[in-house]
Amino acid sequence: MPVDITIHAKDSKAPVFAEQTAHFTQWILNRLDESSARVSLLLVDDTEMSWYNETYRGKTGPTNVLSFPMDSETDVGLCALPIKELGDIIISVDTASQEAQNAGETFGQRLRWLITHGLLHLLGYDHERSAEEHELMYAKEQELLQQFTLTRRRGMTQLAINVDHVATIRQARGIKEPDPVSAAAICELAGAAGIVMHLREDRRHIQDRDVRILRETIKTKLNLEMGAAEEIIRFAVDIQPDMVTLVPEKRQELTTEGGLDVCAQKTKLAETIAQMTEKNIPVSLFIDPDPKQIQASLDIGATFVEIHTGRYCDAITEQERNHEFQLIEHAADEAFQMGLRVNAGHGLDYTNTAQIAALPTIEELSIGHAIIGRALFVGLDQAVREMREIVESAQFVNFS
Ligand code: PXP
Repeated sequence: MPVDITIHAKDSKAPVFAEQTAHFTQWILNRLDESSARVSLLLVDDTEMSWYNETYRGKTGPTNVLSFPMDSETDVGLCALPIKELGDIIISVDTASQEAQNAGETFGQRLRWLITHGLLHLLGYDHERSAEEHELMYAKEQELLQQFTLTRRRGMTQLAINVDHVATIRQARGIKEPDPVSAAAICELAGAAGIVMHLREDRRHIQDRDVRILRETIKTKLNLEMGAAEEIIRFAVDIQPDMVTLVPEKRQELTTEGGLDVCAQKTKLAETIAQMTEKNIPVSLFIDPDPKQIQASLDIGATFVEIHTGRYCDAITEQERNHEFQLIEHAADEAFQMGLRVNAGHGLDYTNTAQIAALPTIEELSIGHAIIGRALFVGLDQAVREMREIVESAQFVNFS
């Protein structure tokens, strides 16, 4: 990670904020086109800050933030590195807390401002040089902080549960049990915000009857996942789900593989969206985290995109996983900025969901296999509650 955080103020709020602080700093670096530059952030208490203030500025007492840009004359060795080192930012957590309290802000808000201020100093902005530069730096700070606030979703990330695998077990015997509609009711009672059923053309798990009965009994929201095939479109228009998610469908696949190629099927998908829109059914397009697919989804009138998290979940090395995560984060941000609503799913389980749930632009996660699998051991009610706990706690560490 290009943001290197050191926390000396260990008894303060700082450790709780470490991960989000790193995230925020990276977000600002990205916005400033410095995504691969490195920066060091040191969070200290007032005593230590007083020492830095006295030693480097000859001033008595603590201050809120100090920036030490990389000096190309004295840091010749470091400046010769292939990575761009911006320098160090030191923040006093005590002063930040006090200032937040005085200004009626949260600690997170204050910290965000101090980080932005410190980074702009490292990049050459200086409000002390002249009134014009003061204006310029202030305006840039406001712009960045407003953009950050605008890219945060308004509510908590919701958990929608895909009950297809309950039907898979039923179909293995060709009898009536277990019933995915009963499973859906248990999921709702355990706090699921929605139920997803994928009605495949080959009817390998969910049957028409399941969707029809669920339509009558559901208390939350029915998301019908489907391929854009004529027969299924007619069915959707007839039963009126709360939303549909269009996915690519191949008969031979075990599960949905990869996102839709919206760019290549714009006309057909636009027609399907128009048919749904006429019936007031919002459409989500299941896509890979790819800017071209996001733009195409927007162009043809999708309301949502569901970002495919499969490659992130299947990643073997940490490096690969980080890379896939960054693609998802970036895609979700971009889609949100463009005005699309953003869901995510596929392959999420009890170990990899928290990182995705903490993303501030994602509205809903669609999870099936991991929850139904865990339900075999702990029961469906508990399996849902455990996943909800993961999704909800991921957001408590959110930066507020
Ligand atoms: N989202 C979409 C579009 C899917 O096709 C699936 C799988 O049916 C899921 C989410 C849920 O994936 P998983 O069962 O791996 O949690």
